[in-house]
Amino acid sequence: MDRAYWEKTAGNYAADIFSVLGNDSRTRIAELISHLAAPQQVAADFGCGPGQIISLLSEHFSEIHACDWSPALLQEAAKKSAENSHVSFHEFDLSGEAPPPFAPVDLGLCINALIGPDVEERQRIWHTVTDLIAASGKLLLVVPSHESALFTSYRRLDWNLRAGLDGKDAETQSYESDENASAREQGVRPIDGVPTKHFLKEELEVQFRDLGFENLEFEKLPYPWTTEFDDPPEWMAEPNPWHWLVVASR
Ligand SMILES: C[S@@+](CC[C@H](N)C(=O)[O-])C[C@H]1O[C@@H](n2cnc3c(N)ncnc32)[C@H](O)[C@@H]1O
Repeated sequence: MDRAYWEKTAGNYAADIFSVLGNDSRTRIAELISHLAAPQQVAADFGCGPGQIISLLSEHFSEIHACDWSPALLQEAAKKSAENSHVSFHEFDLSGEAPPPFAPVDLGLCINALIGPDVEERQRIWHTVTDLIAASGKLLLVVPSHESALFTSYRRLDWNLRAGLDGKDAETQSYESDENASAREQGVRPIDGVPTKHFLKEELEVQFRDLGFENLEFEKLPYPWTTEFDDPPEWMAEPNPWHWLVVASR
């Protein structure tokens, strides 16, 4: 999941990559952005991808900085926002050493961008993103949930048992072999075959507090079961799988 991987998603992004916004059926992200905005404030979208969320920000903020390390995705984002002169685009590696291209902002969004499998790279991104939130600012973070991934595995086991498999077969069909056990324990699990970091709620709490963010509001951003399984049975209802959404401030 390096820069080249993301660069290649340009052109076919909507078909290939899970969209947090597109699956947010309760429009919770839009609601939060409008709730957290105030006149004359500045926002940033860290890892903006093809710019799905920028139009929401541009309705509420007087200045917006959208950054991503993929020039091709930034170009798509810029095309979508051609009419919005208050949006600036920055080709910027959040895990790199270069000085940030803008000053700390009032609201930062980091939606499904802190998901790479490399722990050191993620640590650098945590620091860059949180350093770019003003002292009185807020960060809205969305990341895959490790608990949800475990729950999905349980649902697969449950489904196999209900389908009549015996316990051993249901387990074999439902859980991966031990080859990737260490990565899985760290929450690094494949999404569409790509190793992707998933977070525990408590892990996010510790991470944020270490970075000086004491006020944390957590909620689940739920998705339908069709995001996890092809053709899930009708009985597979709530609780649904989810991403963690956190609004964090100092
Ligand atoms: C799953 S996409 C999410 C895009 C967008 N936030 C959304 O929700 O539609 C992850 C994005 O993070 C960007 N990204 C990942 N690592 C990055 C890094 N180190 N620096 C800048 N952008 C990064 C990728 O290029 C990609 O556009």
